[in-house]
Amino acid sequence: MQRTSSESHSSGREGPSHQHPQATPAPAVRGTFLLATCQGGAEASLVRRQEMILPEVAKAAWRRGVVTFRLGSSDPPDDFFPDLVFARAVIRSLGQVSGASDPERIAAMRSLVPHTAWDNIHVWHRDRRLESDVDSQSVRAALLSAYDKPAGLSATARPGDLVLDCLIDTADRWWVGWHRAATPTSCLPGGMHQKDLPADKVSRAWLKLDEAIATFGVDLRPGQRAVELGASPGGACQRLLEAGLTVVGIDPALVDERVAAHASFEQWRMRARDVKVKSFRGFDWIVADMNIDPRSTLESLGRIVTAAGVKPVGIIATLKMPDWSRAEELPGWLDQFRGWGFAPRARQVSTGGREVCVVALRSRRT
Ligand SMILES: C[S@@+](CC[C@H](N)C(=O)[O-])C[C@H]1O[C@@H](n2cnc3c(N)ncnc32)[C@H](O)[C@@H]1O
Repeated sequence: MQRTSSESHSSGREGPSHQHPQATPAPAVRGTFLLATCQGGAEASLVRRQEMILPEVAKAAWRRGVVTFRLGSSDPPDDFFPDLVFARAVIRSLGQVSGASDPERIAAMRSLVPHTAWDNIHVWHRDRRLESDVDSQSVRAALLSAYDKPAGLSATARPGDLVLDCLIDTADRWWVGWHRAATPTSCLPGGMHQKDLPADKVSRAWLKLDEAIATFGVDLRPGQRAVELGASPGGACQRLLEAGLTVVGIDPALVDERVAAHASFEQWRMRARDVKVKSFRGFDWIVADMNIDPRSTLESLGRIVTAAGVKPVGIIATLKMPDWSRAEELPGWLDQFRGWGFAPRARQVSTGGREVCVVALRSRRT
């Protein structure tokens, strides 16, 4: 089975799986299905991506926010996290349990999955719209108690941890599975980044950039210079400033005063295409988050990064999709980054909307 991942630990690339010799052993019954979760609506895009990179598995069941795949004769590594772009969590599915109460469902789970030695337990919802019906924290508390784990165990697993997964499908039905945490995303329940925007942050773009940095191990260094195309109201610029960068925000719309007043920030109040390309010389990072068609975003980026004297170390771009069918174009979009001399990695981050985040580091000198 091909093993690919778009995630990093810290260096920007995930290496082969080196399981610690003292790692908690995986269950004897490993399960014959993979289960991947995604943003509701992205299921078809996820399946098309699976057909491209994992043709040896076959789609089994799907419903909003979840797709399962029959593994056939393949048995991927415990920490398998294929680069499905639209997947947030990828786990080994062991089946579903149902019951009228948590104790009934937990009893059904214990008979479905006799394995009891888990390092952590992840509980999350298939569909965030169900969050008001079932409190995942109380389900996790019941499971921690049933599996003799401390009540205060952090929900963020450590790399190497063997994790029991409980995906709340409906109020009375759970999917049960497991995975070995390895990448930043697979350490989080359901691969979901912190969802609430801290009160002092200017916009949700702060969260999206924060998640992209964590997911791909983006190595932002104090003193570097970044420019953002589509900067208003300023959450992403705020995140870059917090990392110690000097930032220029380009947008015809005004940036929030909390960002505008920062000593290391400057706004160029115009459209990206009205900025002379030589003005982009000396920037280390080109960030783009414009609410325009992906082709126009790519056109803007291409004009900048192929200009003489413009040599950023990386691009962080949001490609917004008016509808999910545009995901078909993703391979071609990523080829454009390669054509400019960058190595792109893409992910539909959990804090993002109908869009894909591309982090592309320079792969060759131009
Ligand atoms: C989703 S918002 C950006 C959010 C922002 N990144 C943040 O951190 O808060 C999209 C922005 O793109 C800007 N925009 C759209 N077309 C643009 C263009 N051609 N040049 C510069 N900005 C553009 C819009 O004015 C809008 O403020």
